[in-house]
Amino acid sequence: MQSQEEKFESLIEGIVANGYGVCDDFLSSEEVTMLNARFTERFDDGNFKEAGIGKQSEVHQAKEIRGDKILWLENGTTNIAERILLDKNQAFINYLNQTCYLGIVDAEIHFAKYDIGKFYRRHRDTFQAQKGRILSVIYYLNNHWQTENGGNLLIYTQENNIEKTISIAPLAGRLVCFQSEKLDHEVSETFRERLSITGWLLNV
Ligand code: OGA
Ligand code: MN
Repeated sequence: MQSQEEKFESLIEGIVANGYGVCDDFLSSEEVTMLNARFTERFDDGNFKEAGIGKQSEVHQAKEIRGDKILWLENGTTNIAERILLDKNQAFINYLNQTCYLGIVDAEIHFAKYDIGKFYRRHRDTFQAQKGRILSVIYYLNNHWQTENGGNLLIYTQENNIEKTISIAPLAGRLVCFQSEKLDHEVSETFRERLSITGWLLNV
């Protein structure tokens, strides 16, 4: 088993070499179970909102671009499951700041639920007023995900001026991290309910 530091290192190696890193079992199965339970609890409270793509007035247009429902986490939450996630995310931030001098000072993080048939078309995470986003982080919570469930994260990279598509399944416990400003990506249509926690590490 990799130590937490080895996991951080492998993510950073990926980011430096390719602009993105993938780490499996970043969350343990117990942590995934707790987060799934908390996710359901918060979803059932009815506070999730259709995600937008910028200004409030554009939410209806946004549906053709992204179909997830989201709820932002609060930094000061005392819920155990949310604390585990936020504290792990903070440990990663601290490691990034100490080893890569990224000057990350804050993070914004939301739960995201894609129902069957939903997707998020090709985009970058730094559109409009999303200033200060250095790294995007996505924690996946989907146990027993199968290829036929779709819902892959597709990352577009350039190799010798040729575009390459990397396809990453949203497997429970997996963390994907990429440079927010640099990489186009999308979520392909999902054929099963797809749960994740998405965040941005900010330098302002
Ligand atoms: C996003 C996003 C990717 C994913 O929320 O901006 O690109 O795999 N999510 O959920
Ligand atoms: Mn995105």
